[in-house]
Amino acid sequence: MSRTSTQVAGVKFDSYICNASGPLDASFEELQSLGESKSSAIMMKSCTIEPREGNPEPRYVRLPHGAIQSMGLPNLGYKKYLDFVKDLKKYSKPIIASVSGLSLDDYVVMVKEFQKSDVDLIEVNLSCPNIEGKPQVAYDFEQSEKILSAIRNLGKKPLGLKLPPYNDFSFQKQMAELILKYDIKFITCINSIGNTLVIDPEKESTIIKPKRGFGGLSGEYIKPVALANVRAFYELLNGKVSIFGVGGVNTGSDAFEFLLAGADAVQVGTVFEKEGSGCFERINMELEEILLKKGYDSIESVKGNLKYL
Ligand code: DHB
Repeated sequence: MSRTSTQVAGVKFDSYICNASGPLDASFEELQSLGESKSSAIMMKSCTIEPREGNPEPRYVRLPHGAIQSMGLPNLGYKKYLDFVKDLKKYSKPIIASVSGLSLDDYVVMVKEFQKSDVDLIEVNLSCPNIEGKPQVAYDFEQSEKILSAIRNLGKKPLGLKLPPYNDFSFQKQMAELILKYDIKFITCINSIGNTLVIDPEKESTIIKPKRGFGGLSGEYIKPVALANVRAFYELLNGKVSIFGVGGVNTGSDAFEFLLAGADAVQVGTVFEKEGSGCFERINMELEEILLKKGYDSIESVKGNLKYL
């Protein structure tokens, strides 16, 4: 057992760092290379019922401290990911499905099928910001409750929610009530900040093509928002629900901040897209060094121990 091993919803992770759903996790080859990497889990791209090509290019642009994207859920359709699971088991690490329905029925169908599969966890994405005409579900608490009530009893595997950023405690409180009511076992905080706009003043233009330039912001820009959401949910959920922190994890020190805020593990998206799979080992080693230097021998001994002034 390493100093950074952890658990999410009762499932063991060999380290604190895994990939986030999004970059480089849609094809079988990409998922295999995640299996071979030091990512402590294989998190799959959010899938839909039918395969999708996604939005027109340019749809992902790196920025000095992160990225803006409007991918539009390019994926192979959930049946392919169900097929991949059997082959990915050989990597002996947790496999996480991510489902992103375009309707309530879609969520039911996909959760039911992944419940019958060999995945370890199911992340229900309630926060994709990039489909024209489809608001992020998790901002609509009534619709979220309908989905949660329809998917809660479809099997025994732990269900989690991928949440968007909330910027008022009243929203986190409403969502926390649903999480506890419907026995959700983990949450992933946060998805990219939806519908942001980056402008190129030289060209006097937007920099991505879909949705008139509006897209999800990720990377270092969003770390304080992500930390705030992890912390707010940590305080609201009383240790009953595991938390993945995601948003701007670039270094071991970033991961350590998420640990203090209360995250059980962190996911890395933007930096993985930029740096490749070496980032998992690098960030984990940096975190190990911090823990060693500070005299902490486990994730559990630090988790949530943020001091207040
Ligand atoms: C996409 C973006 C997201 O933030 C998400 O949660 C799922 C999918 C996308 O555009 O592909």
